[in-house]
Amino acid sequence: MKNILHIISSPRMEASASRKLGNAVIEKIQERYPDAVVTERDLTKKPVPILEEAHINTFFTPTENYSPEQAEINEYSAGLIAELQQADIIVVDSPMYNFSVPASLRAYFDFTSRAGYTFKYDENGPKGLLNNKKLYIAFTSGNIYSEGPYQIYDSNVPYVKNIFGFYGVTNVSVFRAEGLSIPGIQETALEKAIERITID
Ligand SMILES: Cc1cc2nc3c(=O)[nH]c(=O)nc-3n(C[C@H](O)[C@H](O)[C@H](O)COP(=O)(O)O)c2cc1C
Repeated sequence: MKNILHIISSPRMEASASRKLGNAVIEKIQERYPDAVVTERDLTKKPVPILEEAHINTFFTPTENYSPEQAEINEYSAGLIAELQQADIIVVDSPMYNFSVPASLRAYFDFTSRAGYTFKYDENGPKGLLNNKKLYIAFTSGNIYSEGPYQIYDSNVPYVKNIFGFYGVTNVSVFRAEGLSIPGIQETALEKAIERITID
């Protein structure tokens, strides 16, 4: 039985292209693994806070020295990380916002990038601690970034890949619905992206 974690980051609901693409990826995974269990982490319904000093201090305090407030902060962050640890398959809806990811997804990474949980350092440098997982990125954007002059503007897909690669998740497939603001392309971009979804 596969555990799927679906991370959602668009504040739009019905109008959201990344939710539609991410849901289509989930459906295809469920066709392949009918008994798969899906956990949704909707970052817009329960937003992860912007990092404050108390959070950072907690992340660098040994567990045995936690104050009650730090224990609570750790419990929250460790709970987010536990969902990642328990997942066999991770699907991230990653719409491009201002050339990068929505702030909700960035905040999520700030609470899940933790030494001893998702990565560690040893004499060889950093090492990811989340292994043997598959990542699917459901990327949507107004412009086109997979080719052409705007390729170098893409701080979304390479960033999400880098973060998960740092966590040890290196088996990645990216599905792109691009050109959603370009007449002539926008009409069919999402439909074509959904058709291109393959699950391995
Ligand atoms: C706040 C905001 C910022 C955006 N920034 C970009 C951008 O930098 N580049 C781009 O190609 N599209 C940009 N777009 C268009 C979105 O990437 C596109 O509408 C995508 O479908 C958004 O996903 P969603 O529908 O799931 O919210 C932006 C849209 C919004 C709402």
